[in-house]
Amino acid sequence: MPVRRDDPLDPPPALGVLRDESPISRLAFPDGKTGWLLTRHEDVRAVLADERYSADRVTASSPVRGRPPFKPEDRPGLMLTMDRPEHTRYRRLLTPYFSTRRMRALAPCIERIVADHLDALRAGGPPADLVPAFTLPIPSLVICELLGVPYEDRTRFHAWSAKVLSLTATDEEIQDARDELMDYMLDLVLAKRREPDDALLGTLIAAGTDLTDAELTGVGRLLLIAGHETTANMLALGTFTLLTHPDQLHAFRTGGPEVADRAVEELLRYLTIIQFGATRVAKEDIDLDGHAVRKGETLVLSLPAANRDPGHFDRPDELDVTRPPSQHVAFGHGIHQCLGQQLARIEMRIALTALFDGLPGLRLAVPPDEVPMRHDMAIYGVHGLPVSWDE
Ligand code: HEM
Repeated sequence: MPVRRDDPLDPPPALGVLRDESPISRLAFPDGKTGWLLTRHEDVRAVLADERYSADRVTASSPVRGRPPFKPEDRPGLMLTMDRPEHTRYRRLLTPYFSTRRMRALAPCIERIVADHLDALRAGGPPADLVPAFTLPIPSLVICELLGVPYEDRTRFHAWSAKVLSLTATDEEIQDARDELMDYMLDLVLAKRREPDDALLGTLIAAGTDLTDAELTGVGRLLLIAGHETTANMLALGTFTLLTHPDQLHAFRTGGPEVADRAVEELLRYLTIIQFGATRVAKEDIDLDGHAVRKGETLVLSLPAANRDPGHFDRPDELDVTRPPSQHVAFGHGIHQCLGQQLARIEMRIALTALFDGLPGLRLAVPPDEVPMRHDMAIYGVHGLPVSWDE
């Protein structure tokens, strides 16, 4: 599967060629099996909405090397890999905690966290690396507050998360990181059973839901990782993108709240950091637009390619922060569409607006091609973002 981006902000060019010439194409997986790669927006959405395809990653082939399959004991709570009706049970329990209303109520807390980090940046003076100083801590702190995970433990969970998402770590390293994260989360769940707090995990326990300790542990692990890595990378890569597109940065800075909302959607579409997209497994033999998909075959749905599809988007390869809402698939589609999307949106809007308002003359402190890109991670972004600004 084409993996490497030639241009740091564009999907691999081979995906675009496939989308033009063979949008539903055969794909040979590293495990020796053969499946399918879908690159058109319309097809990707159709399969994500079609429950004849399972989200169960246990039987799915991985499009890239070095992704050990999940062990059965890793599965409880991993709703991302469940089909109905098992999936519905989790989604029903968790959806109320991520509603637009609840997320709006979190805004003052996010604003405070963002303001504290800007104060610290100003106090330290330029230059600074925005990843450790701004883009990583903000979503980490927010998800810690929301879940009830002690922020003091961030060094450990950042390290596990970096291993779990690495494309170069060994199977053993990835499995060890998964195990350590599960042990950590189980201890936390047991502590909250004894003494529930009013954050999400404690509230789920206090509400007397029928989730077992293993299921709560799995939910906590999924939310902790999904809740900080994705948004952190969108913030850092989004900042890099605006800094390297001065006309778009100007439009963002001067456009007011409506453009800020549109810019967030456009960055999500344009950058599509879930590099390899979503995978699904056919539960039966299916005729997919004339292609005979066999039961058990894996389909890779390329979200980056779908989000640049000229059949759906006007000028898809252009970043346009004023673009009207466009049904991008950066958060997926169908029953697994991102649970945390409203949180991600609100964090991005608050953090990006405050960053460009609060650090006048913000600019890269190194040439763009010296910014280390995350070619080696399942979630794309930058490893570091050296910047400077006017004091
Ligand atoms: C910009 C940030 C984010 C992006 C780009 C993103 C992307 C995605 C995508 C593409 C999916 C669907 C995967 C599939 O269908 O296989 C997904 C699902 C999910 N995301 Fe996010 N996500 C982001 C932020 C978050 C946050 C902040 C949270 C939690 C607080 C979160 C929690 C989840 C969960 C729990 C699921 C599984 C939902 C289900 O299976 O029903 N995500 N996300």
